[in-house]
Amino acid sequence: MIILAVESSCDETAVALVRDGREVLSDCIASSAEMHELYGGVVPEIASRKHIEVIASLADAALEQAGLERRDIDAVAVTYAPGLIGAVLVGVNFAKSVAYALGVPLIPVHHVRGHIAANYIAYPELEPPFVCLCVSGGTSLIVDVRGYTDMAILGATRDDAAGECFDKIARVMGLGYPGGGPLDRAAQGGNDRAFDLPRVHIQDAPLDLSFSGLKTAMLNQIHKLEQKGEALPVADLAASFAAAVSDELVPRTIEAAKALGYGKVAVVGGVAANSRIRRDLEDACKRQGFTLYMPPLKLCGDHGAMIGSQGYYEYLAGNLGGTDLNAFANRDISLGV
Ligand code: KG4
Repeated sequence: MIILAVESSCDETAVALVRDGREVLSDCIASSAEMHELYGGVVPEIASRKHIEVIASLADAALEQAGLERRDIDAVAVTYAPGLIGAVLVGVNFAKSVAYALGVPLIPVHHVRGHIAANYIAYPELEPPFVCLCVSGGTSLIVDVRGYTDMAILGATRDDAAGECFDKIARVMGLGYPGGGPLDRAAQGGNDRAFDLPRVHIQDAPLDLSFSGLKTAMLNQIHKLEQKGEALPVADLAASFAAAVSDELVPRTIEAAKALGYGKVAVVGGVAANSRIRRDLEDACKRQGFTLYMPPLKLCGDHGAMIGSQGYYEYLAGNLGGTDLNAFANRDISLGV
């Protein structure tokens, strides 16, 4: 089954063609990140307008790259939640029109379920159940992936997402937007114990996460140094920060995996590209004897193929949408359509 997959939840417009959920035939992406850099964060209206400008030609490019015709498309999958509402609406309306015009099924896909499915592309042998750490610019979740379309949240952030926190700190340190990658590179060779940053414990919810206290502590630290007129020890600050974020994420993910006994741990989302988090997960999984699934960097961020992969499993489960499909800014990952 060949699925045309559409993703437009933030500042990346992506269209891919995926066969039977696992084989990527093409994956075309256009990003408006450069335009947002000027403002230090995504400007929703700009993102939506860029999606409108490029989405149709990206679909043509995806077909051409795959060497396919429109009549080869068996279904259309689209991110319908969560994300910037105007941005998601562009993809949903485009997908609805294509599905209607071709007379094929429309498959709504939850964006974070799509991130999880990036693992199915990277690891053809992987099947649920497993525990998945989902960390991106908009989400920080520890998910029990019981089945391809059966998921439960084990832990969630109470405030900011991990990526949001990386972006904010990078911006204050003058490292640009999006800041996760530059902050990660800046941390290389830094002393991760140079600054004493808080580690959070939430009573009665040991797997829940929180980043706002860490963000404030980092901001205070940076302001203090600036007030003293001292040059920022960028590498040490970045390394201490990465260690604090990793300490928040990795032990909780491992605890969740231990409790469920699956022996399989995955990590997805843009922040899964972070070298410190990857290293700590590798070490922790090795110690526990768990198999770790970490998609390559290019599959960590937003792209269309992940929506095509998850779309296939949603289709098999009968989770289809109609012409009345709506977009949602927020949506629980455990809900069907
Ligand atoms: O998954 P993604 O591409 O988009 C969302 O769905 O949000 O994630 C983007 C986030 C941004 O916050 C970006 O700064 C962060 O992923 N990111 C990183 C790294 N690379 C990207 N964060 C930490 N370390 C990285 N190496």
